[in-house]
Amino acid sequence: MTTPDQPIPAIFSIDTPTPARMYDYCLGGKDNFAVDREAVLALNAQFPEGFDAARQNRLFLYRVVRFLARDAGIRQFLDMGSGLPTQANVHQVAQQFQPEARVVYVDNDPIVLAHGRALLADDVTTTVITADITEPQGILADEDVRRLIDFDQPTAALFLSVPHSIPDDERLGGMLSTVVELLAPGSFVALSQFVGVDRAAADEHTEKVAEMGLDWKTRVVEDFAGYVRGLEAVPPGLVDVAEWRPDPTQPPLQPVDEPLRPYLGVGGADNRVKEYGGVLRKP
Ligand SMILES: C[S@@+](CC[C@H](N)C(=O)[O-])C[C@H]1O[C@@H](n2cnc3c(N)ncnc32)[C@H](O)[C@@H]1O
Repeated sequence: MTTPDQPIPAIFSIDTPTPARMYDYCLGGKDNFAVDREAVLALNAQFPEGFDAARQNRLFLYRVVRFLARDAGIRQFLDMGSGLPTQANVHQVAQQFQPEARVVYVDNDPIVLAHGRALLADDVTTTVITADITEPQGILADEDVRRLIDFDQPTAALFLSVPHSIPDDERLGGMLSTVVELLAPGSFVALSQFVGVDRAAADEHTEKVAEMGLDWKTRVVEDFAGYVRGLEAVPPGLVDVAEWRPDPTQPPLQPVDEPLRPYLGVGGADNRVKEYGGVLRKP
């Protein structure tokens, strides 16, 4: 595990795309390489609706964090698979409604630490660490995490657009239950991931992403039941993230690069894949 005081651990891979950098490209960011941009465009050619779905996820993140901070009074956030800094990062949204909110950002891509040091980690209320979220024990016991998060108090654990990067169902389930077990009653879990309309669409999408060298599993809605056992869904429950408390007045995303513009708004009723998720409460 690497904290903001330690050296950045690895040289960035520029031969293989990474989910953090591909997503950054979809959101109009500049922290991505040619290999990431090519991967996004190749994926868009086969699953054009996935581009809108990824962007809808980021709009969902804003609404989720706003709900948690403003309506549920949550002041501690553990953002697992946080991604690169962009606009409306979790601490910025949370602190708008809870000025004292504390956020720990966790990601396994070293580029997140490199860019996050400047933009995500003030060390007083926020920090960013490099770790594999499928090994949560180390993260939950980490000194820096414990300095910012008191697990005896309600906390929000966010797993947004990351479970599909954990193809092993047992590993994903084990990770979620380890984190949920530690959370105090009244805590929340928010999650989202790519799903297919049916198993064939999910498998085809998985194959396409995996052939780019990424760890990946597009699941189907039914796969979620086991992951959320014992938790209460906050209305409207688990849904297409675009339908989770939509708010046309929320701050928009940044403009995207020219080659991506034809894909804006192509998602529709006949989508084969979408981002699916919601917010759950630990009773
Ligand atoms: C698509 S981005 C989502 C970012 C943000 N959560 C959001 O919803 O806007 C997924 C992030 O999860 C990270 N990730 C994937 N697998 C991970 C793992 N096993 N441990 C930690 N981070 C992981 C990737 O590096 C990437 O930055």
